[in-house]
Amino acid sequence: MTANTKKIISKRYLKSRWKHFLSRNSNGVLLIEGVSVEELRKKYGTPLYVFVEEEVRKRLRDFKGAFDYSVFKPEYACKCNSNLEILRIAREEGFDFDASSVGEIILGLLADFEPWQISFTNLNKTQQDILFAASIGVKSITVDSLEEIDKAIEVASKLRRKIPLLIRVNPMIKEGKYSTQNQQYGIPYAYAKRAINKVISAEYLELKGFHFHGSYAHSPKAYILSAEKLVKLAQYCLGKGVEISVIDLGGGFPPEAPRQYKPGKYFTPQELADKFLPAFHKMIEQSGIRKPALVFEPGKYIVANAGIGLFEVISKKNLKKKEILVTNASCYSMFPDVLVSHVNYEILPANDMLSRRTNKYDIAGCTCDCLDVIAKNQMMPYINIGDMFALMDCGAYSYVMGSNFNNLKRPPMILIKQDGVVKMIRRRDRYSEMFAPELDVLKVADPEELKKFYNMSRVNLNTVWGKAKNGNGNGENGVAVSDK
Ligand SMILES: Cc1ncc(COP(=O)(O)O)c(C=O)c1O
Repeated sequence: MTANTKKIISKRYLKSRWKHFLSRNSNGVLLIEGVSVEELRKKYGTPLYVFVEEEVRKRLRDFKGAFDYSVFKPEYACKCNSNLEILRIAREEGFDFDASSVGEIILGLLADFEPWQISFTNLNKTQQDILFAASIGVKSITVDSLEEIDKAIEVASKLRRKIPLLIRVNPMIKEGKYSTQNQQYGIPYAYAKRAINKVISAEYLELKGFHFHGSYAHSPKAYILSAEKLVKLAQYCLGKGVEISVIDLGGGFPPEAPRQYKPGKYFTPQELADKFLPAFHKMIEQSGIRKPALVFEPGKYIVANAGIGLFEVISKKNLKKKEILVTNASCYSMFPDVLVSHVNYEILPANDMLSRRTNKYDIAGCTCDCLDVIAKNQMMPYINIGDMFALMDCGAYSYVMGSNFNNLKRPPMILIKQDGVVKMIRRRDRYSEMFAPELDVLKVADPEELKKFYNMSRVNLNTVWGKAKNGNGNGENGVAVSDK
């Protein structure tokens, strides 16, 4: 279902797209889990990321529940949103943890994942990284190249301890327009046996299994084709007397967002499981290998639809051929995927959901770069200064990829629970953190200087001028007051 752009956005449409967490009140103000966005603006200011806890939980459960397979071990791919509270929720829902750096391993540990629940997969591991991961006892380290196997051999022989490894393979598959044949990930299939021989002949390496990640795989078939290739490698190992115990097929599952994933490019975890599992069972049976644990590493499927960006209009530029609304958000600090992956997010007129959408606008960010356009040709009601927008489905690859371009602070994040309780899960950036990498090495400023300027810039006008206006987060509610 898509919204008729000229009409009011119906309650039915809101429910069909954002299940039961979005509604509106009789004044046309958007409600998230029953909490009005005006209330959120008053308390936290804008721009603001809002996360819906129940949506994250539901998607974790849906994904896990879809696969009726004896040893199914989904891992949350933390790179798409590494907020500690989101990680905690993923752990509570029974997910293991996919880390792509030592930093992410440490975040996983801080979120109380056990080392044996953490797998470490990326393209660049130093020996020190491998040593760290092996020493704390992670579940597995995924080697991405023949060179990385050499590094693992060296570290393992120094440690004199078995390191559990997955070999990441590029299965060189092609399925319609989707192809891994030009991807940089993993060891190309033609070299996979060489990699296996290297690993199984190394005294302190333990080959656990194979890994594949196909970014943006748009159909279950791609997972079946890659599994076939990995199972063949497992069969090769069996011939050498080595039984593998894990097949890990990475992430890449689409979130529910019709404007990003057109018909035919979207499939649910259940649709994937229904097609994938019978084919997987058959290939395992035919290969004669022991049934391995099956791992998937969903990222954006879990969190994309649970994230909403709230921001407001600060000026209107009426040009001859179009009208541009300049806002206090930015692609750079908040919605980088508009620029990186050309994501066409759906944007709702958050404080005017009852008016017909009669006007066409471009919606721009506030940085000094003309590429900073959040969305073009958006049908909206007549928009006034101060009106608020809710940019939907931005829970993945947003703040983790966002930058401080123009030295803007990235916005805070809040989490709304099903009962409407709101919790701050990340505060706004601080200048002290943003400038530290330079101030630490260039002793150009006395430590008190930044504090002085900061104190001047964060003066709470509501207090000074004695009138309560809509808060912009500065100095209110502990959002930004504690910079040093
Ligand atoms: C190894 C690995 N696993 C999982 C993911 C998560 O992918 P997605 O967010 O598309 O599900 C990624 C994303 O880059 C990845 O590189």
